[in-house]
Amino acid sequence: MTGLAPDLSRSAYESPDIVALYARPDGLQKPEQTLLAQLAPSLGTIDMLDIGVGGGRTTRHFAPLVRTYLGIDYSAAMIEHCRQEFPSFRFAVADARRLEFAADESYDFVLFSYNGIDHLDRHERLTALNEMRRVLRPGGLMVFSSHNANYLPAITDRFRFRVHAGLRETLRSFKWSCVFWAKNGLLQYRMPLAAGRVHDGTHSFRSSALYYVRPDVGVAELRRLGMVDIACAGNESHDFVPGDDPRLPRDSNPWIYYMSRKPEQA
Ligand SMILES: C[S@@+](CC[C@H](N)C(=O)[O-])C[C@H]1O[C@@H](n2cnc3c(N)ncnc32)[C@H](O)[C@@H]1O
Repeated sequence: MTGLAPDLSRSAYESPDIVALYARPDGLQKPEQTLLAQLAPSLGTIDMLDIGVGGGRTTRHFAPLVRTYLGIDYSAAMIEHCRQEFPSFRFAVADARRLEFAADESYDFVLFSYNGIDHLDRHERLTALNEMRRVLRPGGLMVFSSHNANYLPAITDRFRFRVHAGLRETLRSFKWSCVFWAKNGLLQYRMPLAAGRVHDGTHSFRSSALYYVRPDVGVAELRRLGMVDIACAGNESHDFVPGDDPRLPRDSNPWIYYMSRKPEQA
């Protein structure tokens, strides 16, 4: 018994095909490139916790530069892959909702990249965010990304039934449209959505629903957590803007990077 709510996505992340998907040596996303450049002068003094490390996409870029590095993932298969691929760095199987291995205030930088946090429902997400905050030193940096609720019209459009020139493609469209609406029956009545879970077809619907949140609502979540210096960047942008930027509530990038700090004084 772990005491944690079941997460169907976890079994998907143990599958060899999904491990292989995240094991591809992809580069950093644009906001991550900005982050790496901003942190560059101090990286050598930083203790970093890389949560939901997957196949080690971020390990490749950050681990050689920071003072200490630990990559964790709740998928044992992902961690096994990382250990083989990056034998000189430390990895552990662990869940973001229970960072029991880490003392309070033991990291300078906690990263949960590529929307891994969205597999958790709202309650569990807050548990994970609280844990991430707990293990950060005062002044430490928390960065994660999360699906943008403003992007949902594009998702529903993707699953709209369309007649194509070929029968095979038309049948395919019919099948995925049926699956999407069977799983998201009430979605059209919930939109526009401020925050909530949606089955968006990730991993061909093998994952559980993902949490989508409007950027200003995500910022408010961080404020309630007591985080400061909140800034956001759409995944297609190098530029972070302050959390109170008036354009944020309408930002329609597929996902948003949230950067924030734990206050120096408790
Ligand atoms: C979309 S993948 C991203 C992998 C990697 N960060 C990257 O950017 O390529 C999300 C990762 O988060 C992990 N994950 C999801 N929920 C987690 C949790 N509660 N605790 C630890 N890892 C989790 C998954 O196993 C998966 O490897």
